[in-house]
Amino acid sequence: MKRVFSGIQPTGNIHLGNYLGAVKNWVDAQDKKENFFCIVDLHSLTVPQDPDELRFQTRALAAMLLACGIDPDKSTLFIQSHVKAHAEGAWLLNCVTPLGWLQRMTQFKDKSAKQESVLTGLLTYPILMAGDIIFYDADEVPVGDDQKQHVELTRDIAQSFNGRFSQPFFTIPKPIIPVVGARVMGLDGPAAKMSKSSADKRGHAIRLLDEPKEIMRSFKRAVTDSGREIIFSDAPEKAGVNNLLGIYKAVTGKNKEDVIADFANARGYGDLKVGVAEVVIDMLAPIRAKYGQLMEDPAELDRLLAIGATQANAVAQPKVDEMKRIMGLVVP
Ligand code: AMP
Ligand code: TRP
Repeated sequence: MKRVFSGIQPTGNIHLGNYLGAVKNWVDAQDKKENFFCIVDLHSLTVPQDPDELRFQTRALAAMLLACGIDPDKSTLFIQSHVKAHAEGAWLLNCVTPLGWLQRMTQFKDKSAKQESVLTGLLTYPILMAGDIIFYDADEVPVGDDQKQHVELTRDIAQSFNGRFSQPFFTIPKPIIPVVGARVMGLDGPAAKMSKSSADKRGHAIRLLDEPKEIMRSFKRAVTDSGREIIFSDAPEKAGVNNLLGIYKAVTGKNKEDVIADFANARGYGDLKVGVAEVVIDMLAPIRAKYGQLMEDPAELDRLLAIGATQANAVAQPKVDEMKRIMGLVVP
């Protein structure tokens, strides 16, 4: 079975795009792959965070992923900082990675250009990420386009380590980029994708914790066009309708013909919007309920996270210990 490593930062509001474009795929792939889902709290520290808020968001994301169907009996879900090998191994990788490789990263260049004072962690962020992946010998890393360069750097680091210590020690991972068709666009303007950073803007996103009334309101306000044709289309003016149909298709799992048939009697976009809102509300209701249960039962959430951390530690710590030995450290 292929081993997959996914990392998610515990910052920002998780929305329908995250769910349909990423989380749902992880849930559906649990039987086909060996999955490690890591909430990368150490990565979030590379920009200033409010401590209480970070702690809350980390637990909230864990509860949300479990509520969405990540099954601890099938997958390993854990918090990065609970597994000490990540921080420990990252130091070792720091000592074999040329500075120039990090300075070339476009995300570092973009983010550091926007800040007056840049933390060292922002520069070495991709090293921590490389460790996440290679300490588990992951074969596949599902990431958005923006993270592809970091996975390529991970491959370079792993290859150079293998070459230098002349043994095939680390597995060389492959980035898996989701198909563009799976993109959910903003409801307030279908030219831009639904994004975490705009998730709190009125009418832009459906957040997974939104109340049914709020969801209905956001869909009713969704930007469409002045026509009345309910069709899948790549035409820019149909982007709004196309997005609504795409959401309906992803939620129901129906094919395009059946989706269109469901709206054959619609009297206009109003009916389409209500129809889409209803399936989304029905899909999210049990997720919200499960999330609520887990957040009200911190002991149960801690128990599940401890199982995940134990499983992850059993893979990553021996790998990092072996790495230390290879590099010349005395391992007790
Ligand atoms: P981010 O919100 O950028 O941290 O992304 C987390 C995951 O959700 C990544 O796998 C993204 O590719 C996916 N994702 C984010 N926004 C969307 C969207 N609007 N449509 C589909 N997938 C998305
Ligand atoms: N850098 C990724 C992001 O910002 C998160 C991440 C950290 C990650 N470690 C990872 C993703 C390992 C995949 C594998 O989205």
